Amino acid sequence: MTSDNRQTAPMDPARLEVLVSMEPFVEAEMAAHVARRNLWFPSELLPRNTEADTDVAEIRDAARGLPDTIRVALAINLLTEEGLPHFHRLIAVYMGTESPWSTWNNLWTAEEDRHGCVLRDYVRDARVFDIIALERLQYAYIASGFNPEWEHDAYRLLAYTSLQERATQVAHANTGRTCGRYEPAIQRVLAHVSGDEARHFKFYRNVFGEVLKRDTERALYALLRVMPALAMPGHTIPNYEAMSEVMMRADIYGPRHYQKIVEELLAFWKIGELGGLTAVGRELQDRLMCIPARLERMADYILKKMHPREFRFDFLGDRALIA
Ligand SMILES: [Fe+2]
Ligand SMILES: [Fe+2]
Repeated sequence: MTSDNRQTAPMDPARLEVLVSMEPFVEAEMAAHVARRNLWFPSELLPRNTEADTDVAEIRDAARGLPDTIRVALAINLLTEEGLPHFHRLIAVYMGTESPWSTWNNLWTAEEDRHGCVLRDYVRDARVFDIIALERLQYAYIASGFNPEWEHDAYRLLAYTSLQERATQVAHANTGRTCGRYEPAIQRVLAHVSGDEARHFKFYRNVFGEVLKRDTERALYALLRVMPALAMPGHTIPNYEAMSEVMMRADIYGPRHYQKIVEELLAFWKIGELGGLTAVGRELQDRLMCIPARLERMADYILKKMHPREFRFDFLGDRALIA
């Protein structure tokens, strides 16, 4: 990576130097990732019999029993995955196009692309939604772009992806677990997807951990800018708030899950134990270590004032959903 291939996100030389110095580390982590991964393909997990449609009919039958809360979780999981162009672009803009960082971006994108494909193939085969209503949301999400306020700081991208990979892993895994009783085919799909997210999480967590070692205070600053409130990529999707509320009410993903992810990462990176910091570094450390308690208070507040209410979504035919 050089400054030449970073046209859209000029970065300060100090951060750029760290990212360049980390290229061998990224290559090693990428090799470890490839050794760990299980490269599966969407059509290995779904009916692909071209002669007869009996297996498609089977999953369609099984999917009839899926509760609407699970359908909403599947919608949000699918839409989030379909936001991949935003993330491929962000990584390319922040990390350039000619280095091990961009090799990772391409490899990661190829893996992620299967997630949207397999979920979309499933929901279409199984007739989970009014598919055109869902496609309208997907279109709106891609067309509205996603520009988080990272201010040309690639460390924030790496902090964000660490948190976001874990969040998607949890959301897919919990959706899959809840599906199991009704629909083994989608549970199996979601187990494969969340397995990928777990490996991506490990990659980003290790990479950000290395940034922390090499450029501690700037890394702490980046973390502090990203961690208190993770901007979910889907927040531009029409009706996203209501969808994520249903997911929270079904205990599939919500503020408690996010709090746990934050606690886990602060502990893994040993943020509370970092020594040898300047006064500024200690201040950043203290503020970071206060985040879990703040998230807990927020979660308490949100969950306490929650009473069952009615939701309606056009992709579910506008029928009433009580959650
Ligand atoms: Fe994914
Ligand atoms: Fe992922």
